[in-house]
Amino acid sequence: MKQVTAPVEKYCQSKTVKVITRATVQYRDTLKESDIKEAISRKYPEAVVLIVSVDERGRPNAMPAGWSMFTSGDPPMLAVSIHPDRFSHELISRTSEFVVTFPGEDQASLVELCGSCTGAEVDKFDCFSIPTSPAIEVKPPLIEGSVACLECIVEVTCRTGDHTIFAGRIVRGHVSEKPTRRLYNLGGEGVDRFRPLKPREITGSSK
Ligand SMILES: Cc1cc2nc3c(=O)[nH]c(=O)nc-3n(C[C@H](O)[C@H](O)[C@H](O)COP(=O)(O)O)c2cc1C
Repeated sequence: MKQVTAPVEKYCQSKTVKVITRATVQYRDTLKESDIKEAISRKYPEAVVLIVSVDERGRPNAMPAGWSMFTSGDPPMLAVSIHPDRFSHELISRTSEFVVTFPGEDQASLVELCGSCTGAEVDKFDCFSIPTSPAIEVKPPLIEGSVACLECIVEVTCRTGDHTIFAGRIVRGHVSEKPTRRLYNLGGEGVDRFRPLKPREITGSSK
């Protein structure tokens, strides 16, 4: 067992914060180098979103994504990372608009279904009877049953490795009036990996 005592004043500069002058961290020698994929697999649980886009005729498509993040507070911006093979990549590249939804606890099957086929071949909204309502400023619709939906207009596109990041300015937000919990991906395969977090849920391997 090692023990480290470190001053923390420099992290507490706000006058409203009660300053704790010293913090004690105890740890054991638990870390070993691993395969990078194994280390990445410890990221779960991971938030999952559904990205909604449309074609030129206004026909919507939806894909689940684990790789999304807020990138700016003012203006509010959100980025999603999408592989060029996805039909959604083609649609967002063409229209520069998307809606990000936080799926609710009853939408695990919908997330699984939308991730198991491509909108290039399947009209997912028709086949899976996805309930929608219109967005205000963008053409992609909102998905009913979501915890929240964010309307985004693409401002930055950049290639990172084998994916493209689309960073959108959030122009409108919508929230569920019915209390519902957000879905997370707990790792692994199949629909059971998607569920809301339980209190004190711990991070672990996807295996
Ligand atoms: C939980 C989950 C997370 C995913 N995350 C991403 C992601 O962040 N980026 C991506 O390009 N594909 C991701 N995918 C894969 C796409 O959702 C999947 O290939 C989908 O069928 C693409 O649909 P589309 O071709 O209609 O756009 C994910 C799939 C699942 C099930």
